[in-house]
Amino acid sequence: MRRPVPAWLRIATCRFRAHISASISRAVAKAASSYNTLGIPRGDKAAYAKQALENYNFFGAPHVAIIHTNEALGVYGAVDCGAYVSNFMLAAQALGLGTIAQASLARQSGLIRRHFHLADDRRVVCGISFGFADNAHRINSYHTSRAIVADTATFVEE
Ligand SMILES: Cc1cc2nc3c(=O)[nH]c(=O)nc-3n(C[C@H](O)[C@H](O)[C@H](O)COP(=O)(O)O)c2cc1C
Repeated sequence: MRRPVPAWLRIATCRFRAHISASISRAVAKAASSYNTLGIPRGDKAAYAKQALENYNFFGAPHVAIIHTNEALGVYGAVDCGAYVSNFMLAAQALGLGTIAQASLARQSGLIRRHFHLADDRRVVCGISFGFADNAHRINSYHTSRAIVADTATFVEE
């Protein structure tokens, strides 16, 4: 038998639904601005590529955590990894460490799997490079903006 939904919960679910979305255009804008901070001229594809390769140098960090999930868990495994990544980064920050989440490492998942002897059913989601931040490096003077709530959530009144 279905249990009745308490009245307060019904009101809450009817009156409010939020739709959260991430924006690719913000990520592209972020990349362009960070190249700017590094003094890379707009359109300099060779310099863009060189900077992108820094991903595989872990941006100079001494450590990298590889985040992987069981392939069979599908999107839910990836969601769990996302929550793990967020908490890892917050915990590191609280300990005075800098982090950079790196989805680009997943492009080399075959190599990573072999290096760490990961089973074939593991799917590499991303890496997190971490260490003490070099605050004197000019890239660390670059701060991304934060989207306002209205740009990322749609509130639906019913
Ligand atoms: C899941 C995830 C994957 C990311 N992958 C990369 C990446 O592969 N390479 C990169 O340069 N930045 C990547 N970023 C962006 C950086 O980790 C970081 O968010 C960015 O430098 C700005 O940090 P801030 O928003 O805290 O200032 C990724 C971010 C997230 C959340």
